[in-house]
Amino acid sequence: MKPVVLVTGANGEIGRTLLQRLHTDGRYRVVTVDLTPLPEKYRSFCLETYAGNIMDRYLLDQIAAHHEIEVVVHLAALLSTRGERDPALAHQVNVEGTLHLLRMAQNQSERLGRAVRFLFPSSIAVYGFSSLEEKARAGRVREDDHNVPITMYGCNKLYCEHLGRYFTLYFRQMGALSSAARLDFRSIRYPGLISAETVPTGGTSDFGPEMLHAAAQRQPYECFVRPDAKIPFMAMPDAVTSLVHLLEADRAKLTQTVYNVSGFSVSAQQIADRVRKAFPGAEITFEPDAARSRIVDSWPEDVDDSRARADWGWKPAYEVDRAFDEYLVPQIRKRYAQGHA
Ligand code: SER
Repeated sequence: MKPVVLVTGANGEIGRTLLQRLHTDGRYRVVTVDLTPLPEKYRSFCLETYAGNIMDRYLLDQIAAHHEIEVVVHLAALLSTRGERDPALAHQVNVEGTLHLLRMAQNQSERLGRAVRFLFPSSIAVYGFSSLEEKARAGRVREDDHNVPITMYGCNKLYCEHLGRYFTLYFRQMGALSSAARLDFRSIRYPGLISAETVPTGGTSDFGPEMLHAAAQRQPYECFVRPDAKIPFMAMPDAVTSLVHLLEADRAKLTQTVYNVSGFSVSAQQIADRVRKAFPGAEITFEPDAARSRIVDSWPEDVDDSRARADWGWKPAYEVDRAFDEYLVPQIRKRYAQGHA
């Protein structure tokens, strides 16, 4: 029997591409939970789909009772801009929700007598710089440096990385729980993600994907950061590939629970130039919003992912030219030509 993977937030930006990939690979049976029901195309990839809230512990217990879950991919979260608008809700969903899932995976590990793998997308939002000079000086950041986030979302992700490490190595350390019965937490710190399929909601790196999707639909776009605002981005296929590679990596080779992965670093101006080249006549203006710019300025301009490369062979397939010319632009064109909104 193929192992069961539970995907939370399956109807979101990463979730949809992940479901497609898991379906193509055919190595897992997929159970999903999301606030909103999955469209039929994605439902057909799944063993079972649940529409519900990860804050509903009864629902999670019910899912665990019905399926022998061996892998959890916990994607559900409130992103950084949304989190600043409602920090209490962000904490509830991003921290308490994650704790519910960790507890469920821990119980499941004990029941199965082996470690349930728990994959957690973290983010460049766990880093924080207090000035552009500091950001420029830091350049490519390593996992252990500059962990001083300025958003609720960043704080939530950083804390949950620690919770995951705690559950993996120390849970019930005063008791008799053998390490074989603890879960196996693995986390990726993503840069801003760009998908041809979906536009994210509530993030602060959203100016990248929004600019592209607006141009493809011939809509004007007001960019909420300055032209020189620079952070790393990654094409969605690479985001999903890295997740699947880390999920399947040999545990003995993993030297840590949290890994940076890089794609390509570009400024908002460089994205606008590529978008205008692909969609001549695209109307892009810059109307920086102080608070959202401040958040982007606090994130690193690049990340050092040498540990992911060394431990589990990470290598992005999409550098900037290939991301735009072979994935984003053709796929987005096709998508809107087919009349998708
Ligand atoms: N892309 C996320 C956001 O903008 C950061 O991980 O909130």
